[in-house]
Amino acid sequence: MERIITVANQKGGVGKTTTVVNLAAGLARLGNRVAVIDLDSQGALTISLGFDPYTVRPSSYNILLDQNIAFADVLKKSRQNIYIAPANAELIAAEYKLYNESDRTSRLRNSIKNSAEKFDFILIDTPPNLGLITVNGLVAASELLIPVAANYLSMRGVRSLLDSVWLIRERLNPQLKLLGVLPTMVQPKAAHAKSAIYEMQTVFKQKVFQSIIPFDNAAATAPALRQTTIEYAPTSSVATAYIYLAKEVSNVK
Ligand SMILES: Nc1ncnc2c1ncn2[C@@H]1O[C@H](COP(=O)(O)OP(=O)(O)OP(=O)(O)O)[C@@H](O)[C@H]1O
Ligand SMILES: [Mg+2]
Repeated sequence: MERIITVANQKGGVGKTTTVVNLAAGLARLGNRVAVIDLDSQGALTISLGFDPYTVRPSSYNILLDQNIAFADVLKKSRQNIYIAPANAELIAAEYKLYNESDRTSRLRNSIKNSAEKFDFILIDTPPNLGLITVNGLVAASELLIPVAANYLSMRGVRSLLDSVWLIRERLNPQLKLLGVLPTMVQPKAAHAKSAIYEMQTVFKQKVFQSIIPFDNAAATAPALRQTTIEYAPTSSVATAYIYLAKEVSNVK
């Protein structure tokens, strides 16, 4: 069975894209065939995996709005076992164009479903809002992964995210389940980080991953070199944590 994991949090800069890149790298290292989908018009995932969002075509825009283009037509090989449906700036218009379509929430799901190309994992990166594009990501998913930066007030907004998610589950995607909440950018010695993780564990209990992603500059340096953190600094604390996360995710039945 193909596992489709959407990474979402409407709060910006919490590590969504970094998680998609490095979870994909970790899962690929374990021998999985992985596809990632960039649903953010900023194209950070696309850049990180070596493509130019200004010129790359076709893109995830075509998956959402072009009935003549199949999922597989959009995929480009990034590395061994990693394929990407890249984003480009056309996606900015997709949010508005989708509003006029009757199947506006299920375009991505249908495109993946109808595809002959199959993967062990499909990871979907979403923009920092809860608009129609993110809804497409949530409707297409079997599982949701929520990265939460371990700092003061970081849990604010997670509840409203989950309210939307359960509404989507009720109305549009009954199979959607919460895979887990991932503490990111954790400064191990900081008191605020400890209390943020404590709060996550109190609210989400066993749904908080054992993997905790530390704050580490290697994570911020790697994208400029078009590398995953696991490639750029394989023994760094952040790479180690993402490798562990990949094992944790693949052990979920
Ligand atoms: N563990 C980490 N340690 C240090 N820096 C990190 C870490 N994870 C991500 N970063 C950096 O923080 C910034 C935000 O991360 P990222 O782009 O993954 O977040 P995002 O949630 O996808 O953001 P957006 O909401 O804008 O899409 C980036 O510059 C990234 O390189
Ligand atoms: Mg991002």
